Amino acid sequence: MSSAEAKNQIQALTSELKQHTYNYYVLAMPTISDFDFDKKLEKLNALEKEFPEFADPDSPTQVVGGDITKEFITVRHRWPMLSLGNTYNAQELLDFDQRIRKAIGDNFEYVCELKFDGLSMSLTYEDGKLIRAVTRGDGVQGDDVTTNVRTINTIPKRLHTGNYPAYFDIRGEVFMHRKAFERLNNERLENGEVAYANPRNFASGTIKMQDSAEVAKRPLDCFLYFLYTEKPLFKTHWESLQAAKDWGFHTNDHSELCSNIDEVLQFITKWDKDRFGLSYDIDGIVIKVNNYSQQQELGFTAKSPRWAISYKFKAERVETELISVSYQVGRTGAVTPVANLKPVLLAGTTVKRATLHNANEIIRLDLHEGDTVFVEKGGEIIPKIISVNPDKRRADSIPVLYRTTCPACDTPLERKEGEAAFYCPNDEGCPPQIVGRMQHFIGRKAMNIDGLGDETIETLYSRGYINHISDIYELHNHAAELKQMGRFGDKSINNMLDGIEKSKQMPFEKVLFGLGIRYIGETVAKKLAFHFKSIEKLMAAPYDELITAEEIGERIAQSLIEYFNNEKHQQEIEKLKALGLQFVAEEKEVKLDSEKLAGQSFIISGVFEKYSRDELKDIIEQNGGKILSSISAKLNYLVAGDNMGPAKLEKAQKLNIPIISDEELLTMLS
Ligand code: IVH
Repeated sequence: MSSAEAKNQIQALTSELKQHTYNYYVLAMPTISDFDFDKKLEKLNALEKEFPEFADPDSPTQVVGGDITKEFITVRHRWPMLSLGNTYNAQELLDFDQRIRKAIGDNFEYVCELKFDGLSMSLTYEDGKLIRAVTRGDGVQGDDVTTNVRTINTIPKRLHTGNYPAYFDIRGEVFMHRKAFERLNNERLENGEVAYANPRNFASGTIKMQDSAEVAKRPLDCFLYFLYTEKPLFKTHWESLQAAKDWGFHTNDHSELCSNIDEVLQFITKWDKDRFGLSYDIDGIVIKVNNYSQQQELGFTAKSPRWAISYKFKAERVETELISVSYQVGRTGAVTPVANLKPVLLAGTTVKRATLHNANEIIRLDLHEGDTVFVEKGGEIIPKIISVNPDKRRADSIPVLYRTTCPACDTPLERKEGEAAFYCPNDEGCPPQIVGRMQHFIGRKAMNIDGLGDETIETLYSRGYINHISDIYELHNHAAELKQMGRFGDKSINNMLDGIEKSKQMPFEKVLFGLGIRYIGETVAKKLAFHFKSIEKLMAAPYDELITAEEIGERIAQSLIEYFNNEKHQQEIEKLKALGLQFVAEEKEVKLDSEKLAGQSFIISGVFEKYSRDELKDIIEQNGGKILSSISAKLNYLVAGDNMGPAKLEKAQKLNIPIISDEELLTMLS
């Protein structure tokens, strides 16, 4: 490799890995698998060794990572919190075993433990009382999160009597059980909040909350797995674990003493299979030399002990057969292919379907009918087809051809230039589009109609009562028939009709969003309502005028023109107007709290612990700031919460846009 090439590669890898480290530790939202991260880190390490002149002094190879946040007090660890080297296969473990035996001979034991997938925590006890809990941070110092950790039931605030030393640290992993994760995540979804991708992110998002009362509502647990004392108390790690358990700590009962590497490999094989039966996630096995004096003899590298290593499980991948490809039609007419699979057990659940995204994905996979496919489940809930097993393809099998007509109404599908998705153009007659549009209209972010839900919309549509949004407002004419259906009681019919009537007061921007015009999201609808003030002015605006409005680009302007040019849409809008819905923006007297954010623009993304995104928007607008709907060079700040989309983050970083937390936003106001 030429030195110029090496320089380029080192720079590219360094900045990429720094980004991943930030995503992982600060945003608690990794966008790369640990495996890929480690491979890239190894590559960078090798390049830096060969071309040390190009190594960045802050290279990710030199730091352990960092999750220190400004909201908490930073505390230095009495004993640094190290990471572990990783292995991914038996050979790498045999090599590890060889290195150990070379250094200390054959007479030693291993302790095998589950590698809990949470966040590591260092607890300090003085005279049997928990005095501090600190996150790992960069390994040297971390965040003091004691008040939050005190809410974890399984962490003793005071120890049982025992021979514990006056001062010690104990390390462990804070995590959330899968059941609790599912329950709380579903609640979030119902509240319209962004769901966490996995229990680990949920746990780490929780530990970083400022409000410990909120932390207490989210059930966390903690397994303790390493004891640090000033003077050695025990001869072995195993004895320490037993003692810790006696003192009242939650240690894990699945740990095992192994007398050689074969037993270690057996432990790994067992848990690679059995891990799905656990109530919590593990991502591997940790192997530690048991005896402390042998640990001392082996010592440390710059980042990790030589006497311990982790073995990482591979994302589970299974083979199964493709039964068929079916297609779903969304409210915009976009058609999404789904693979129906021969049911197969994967990561503890039976998988019957996998997403195929779009027609290009079918081509990428070169999917044939009856293919045997490899399915993988990463952090995501929906499994994905990784590839096809070509050896198992029947000689006479034919390629899966993307369907040419709509699965719901048989209309020929269309594809716009530059778009991956096929669309059904029959928006007036295609049932899932009709139902989807009405469901969108009544939804929480649009008209938020009380007493009317998605299922009712489906029922009312199938009975022929509603076909257009405006029909919803005529339902009161069918009250008697609705009662006769026997499906709804008097009370629920009255609630529904009341909710519908009340929704007529919803402001213009909500109605505009509710219409479901392509690319008109909540923020854009607000901008349009604010800029044009009435539907008449908006409908009359030519392209050149549309794009002068803040945030309105070519794509949105085109979509508006297309929508309003359609005579059916014009008629529907007239009907809704006649029914009394709001098509004129309220003239609000805007009295600002301050002008502190005047001239500054913001985008809010992700989930925040203390505020909803709408509350943050209000705060910004009340202080003279502007909310933009897409990231561009014009943007001044990105306010980032948990679980923000990686694409947004990447774009903001490329444009060098400062990324701030909600707390930082508030300090701008103080
Ligand atoms: S021992 C020097 N034991 O894995 C001792 N770590 O990659 C270092 N982890 O930061 C840690 N389960 O967050 C240890 N049974 C276990 C573990 C465990 C999970 C995590 C921990 C650590 C990381 C190292």
